[in-house]
Amino acid sequence: MSSPAESPAIITCKAAVAWGPGEPLLLEEVEVHPPKAMEIRIKVVCSSLCRSDVTQWESKAQPSLFPRIFGHEASGIVESVGEDVTEFEVGDHVLTVFIGECKSCKHCVSGKSNMCQNLGLERKGVMHTDQNTRFFIKGRPIYHYCAVSSFSEYTVVHSGCAVKVSKDAPMDRICLLSCGVSAGLGAAWKVANVSEGSTVVIFGLGTVGLSVAQAAKIRGASQIIGVDTDPQKFEKGKAFGVTSCINPDDCNEPIPQVIKRMTDGGADYSFECIGDTGAVTTALQSCDAWGVTVTLGVPKTNPDVSVHYSLLLSGRTLKGTLFGGWRPKSDLPSLVLQYLEKKILLEDLVTHDIAFDDINEAFSLMKEGKCLRCVIHV
Ligand SMILES: NC(=O)c1ccc[n+]([C@@H]2O[C@H](COP(=O)([O-])OP(=O)(O)OC[C@H]3O[C@@H](n4cnc5c(N)ncnc54)[C@H](O)[C@@H]3O)[C@@H](O)[C@H]2O)c1
Ligand SMILES: [Zn+2]
Ligand SMILES: [Zn+2]
Repeated sequence: MSSPAESPAIITCKAAVAWGPGEPLLLEEVEVHPPKAMEIRIKVVCSSLCRSDVTQWESKAQPSLFPRIFGHEASGIVESVGEDVTEFEVGDHVLTVFIGECKSCKHCVSGKSNMCQNLGLERKGVMHTDQNTRFFIKGRPIYHYCAVSSFSEYTVVHSGCAVKVSKDAPMDRICLLSCGVSAGLGAAWKVANVSEGSTVVIFGLGTVGLSVAQAAKIRGASQIIGVDTDPQKFEKGKAFGVTSCINPDDCNEPIPQVIKRMTDGGADYSFECIGDTGAVTTALQSCDAWGVTVTLGVPKTNPDVSVHYSLLLSGRTLKGTLFGGWRPKSDLPSLVLQYLEKKILLEDLVTHDIAFDDINEAFSLMKEGKCLRCVIHV
């Protein structure tokens, strides 16, 4: 245990604070409190912008959770550790994760789920352990996002919500593995278990959808069809293994009909990577009788999925996944290694490198659909 003299002090640093839903972020001086027991404080190096940050920032559903610091796809360096932390040391390189792994709850030990019961998706804007914030501006608490809040020069996370990674890995690229890319890879490999020679349809060719594509390609899928309303995504799609593209705006018949014709009756696997529950229905309809549909998107509106029962009675499966089903501490280091061995592509997903002061540019680019991942150099 560290003596009081060695205890970390409050740090005053720069953070991008959202004061209200959809309002431009303001770069503010915030006080970041020291890590409490089992927590670590991280100097954030890079944080890429995920669609989920933008969806939550725009949402008017929880106005009481502002002012708030967003950001959850991040790499950083451990600055200080709280009491009882044995897994991390000052100077360790880490990725943050929006669902942690305590390794002791029923879900963590089950081997069947990554929905840790102690460090699961945090929705109240506070730390899991004491339901308080670690950020303040002149005594006023600033809410967290997913218990990560990486759009700040320093942040505090639970030690179960960070994963130690190799110091050889470039921080400005591996941050993508902290959420979106891993989610897509895991959806194809772990959740759907895409098999060699199979047919795959992906709705939405953003970072998540393209990561599903690269995972399906690595597994040897014979046909990978991408569906996107933005034709600019099609060129990129090919680099990630997409074999043909459909723009729904150019079709005068329902998409499932088009896909059934292209795949001799329907796809083996379909993935919803848009964040539109209507697309979940379309994805299920696009599968053959044994097909597996995996939904990854976080809907902006209408959380209900509508499915005709006969689609399921005939044998189709509908699944959903957060973080691709990976258990972060157990599985993430291996994904970083696969990237270092050049088995996983990350570079081509980074369309913009952005200085922290220009963070609002990243939000605008994603709102307008003009980027894949913007990496913000914090
Ligand atoms: N489950 C998870 O763990 C997880 C992790 C990260 C992101 N997400 C969610 O996954 C979704 C995708 O994330 P992303 O970062 O790739 O987002 P993105 O915005 O970069 O990509 C979405 C793509 O969908 C396309 N699109 C939009 N409307 C469409 C429509 N009606 N028909 C066809 N294509 C359409 C867009 O042109 C874009 O290419 C989001 O909802 C995000 O919140 C989930
Ligand atoms: Zn994310
Ligand atoms: Zn757990």
